[in-house]
Amino acid sequence: GVKASYIGSKIFDAKHVSKRFDDLKILEDFNYTFSRFEKMGIVGNNGTGKSTFIKMLMGEVAPDSGEFEVGETIRFGYYSQDGLQFDEQMKVIDVVQDIAEVVTLGDGSTLSVSQFLNHFLFTPEKQHSYVHKLSGGEKRRLYLCTVLMRNPNFLVLDEPTNDLDIVTLNVLEEYLREFKGCVIVVSHDRYFMDKVVDHLMVFRGQGVLKDFPGNYTQYREWKEVQELIEKEEQQKLQEKEAPKQVYKQDRSTETKKKLSFKEQRELKELDELIPKLEAEKAEIEEAMSSGTLSTDELLEKSARMTVLIDEIDEKSMRWLELSEYV
Ligand SMILES: Nc1ncnc2c1ncn2[C@@H]1O[C@H](COP(=O)(O)OP(=O)(O)OP(=O)(O)O)[C@@H](O)[C@H]1O
Ligand SMILES: [Mg+2]
Repeated sequence: GVKASYIGSKIFDAKHVSKRFDDLKILEDFNYTFSRFEKMGIVGNNGTGKSTFIKMLMGEVAPDSGEFEVGETIRFGYYSQDGLQFDEQMKVIDVVQDIAEVVTLGDGSTLSVSQFLNHFLFTPEKQHSYVHKLSGGEKRRLYLCTVLMRNPNFLVLDEPTNDLDIVTLNVLEEYLREFKGCVIVVSHDRYFMDKVVDHLMVFRGQGVLKDFPGNYTQYREWKEVQELIEKEEQQKLQEKEAPKQVYKQDRSTETKKKLSFKEQRELKELDELIPKLEAEKAEIEEAMSSGTLSTDELLEKSARMTVLIDEIDEKSMRWLELSEYV
C-alpha cells in the first residue's frame, strides 16, 4: 500500500520566474513561497496562462528564466485539464488496483481500493465494468480517484469543476476538508472555490498577477466596487470635459441614473426571490449531506442544485446592478 505522506519544512519556492509565448506574457519575475498549508485558488480569463503556470510548477513546461524549487518531501497529485489516459480495455477496479491496494485518508483512516471507489460513487457493479463503457464524466471521476489514491501531499487541480457533477464535487470537497497538505485549484466555480481555498491568485493578463487575500465571493464583490469606482471616475472626467451640461442639472442626481418604474418593480421582486432561492439551496444542501437520500433522489437534487446556483448567481448580479441606482 501507499503510506500517508509527510510534508517537510521546505515546501516550494518560485524564484524570479518569467515566461512568455512570443508577444503573450504569462509570468514576469514571479516570486512566491508556498506555505505548508497553502490553499490557493487560481482565477483569470481564458488564455491568461493559468494552466501554463501549473505546468511550470509540475516541471512539464520550462520557464524562460528563473526557477521553481521543490522540497524533497513533496509528492504531487496533478489533476490536469487535458490529461486522462486509461487502457480502455481494463476494468475500473484493475485500473486503481495497479496503483495501490489501500488508501489512507487525511484523518488517518484507511480504505480498501473498492471502498474508496465506492466512496467516489462507483457501485460494486460499476467497479467491475470496463473503462470504455464509462461515460465521459465517470471517466473524469475515475481519473480523479487515481490522482487522490497516490496519497499526494501537494494537490494541483486544474478545472475539476468543469466535468465533475455536484455529487462528486461534494465528495471531493469533503476529501479536501480533511486533506493535510497544499492545494492549488483552478476553477470558475465560486461555490467550490469558497469552500476549498482561502486566497486567490488572480491572472489579470499579460503577466500581471494579483494575490487576493480572500475567497472568490469576496473577490467578486471587491471587483464590483473597483469597477464602480472606475466608472464614477470616468463620469467625473466626462463632466469636466462637458461642463455646460452639468451645470444645468441638479448636482445630487447628475451621476445617478434613476430606475424606471419597471426596474423598481424588478428590484422589489428580486428582493423577495433571492432569499427564497437561497433557502431552497440550503434545504437541498442539507438533504444531500444527510446521507438518507436514494441515488435517484440524490441525482434529482443535484440537477436542481445546478439550476439553482446559476439562477442565484444571475439574479444576484442583476440585483447588484439595479441596487446601485437606489
Ligand atoms: N506551447 C505553447 N506555445 C505557444 N503558445 C502557447 C503554448 N501553450 C499555451 N500557449 C498559449 O498561451 C496562452 C495561455 O494558455 P493556458 O492554457 O495557460 O491558459 P489558461 O489560462 O489555462 O486558459 P483556460 O482558462 O482556457 O484554461 C494561450 O493563449 C495559449 O494559446
Ligand atoms: Mg487552463
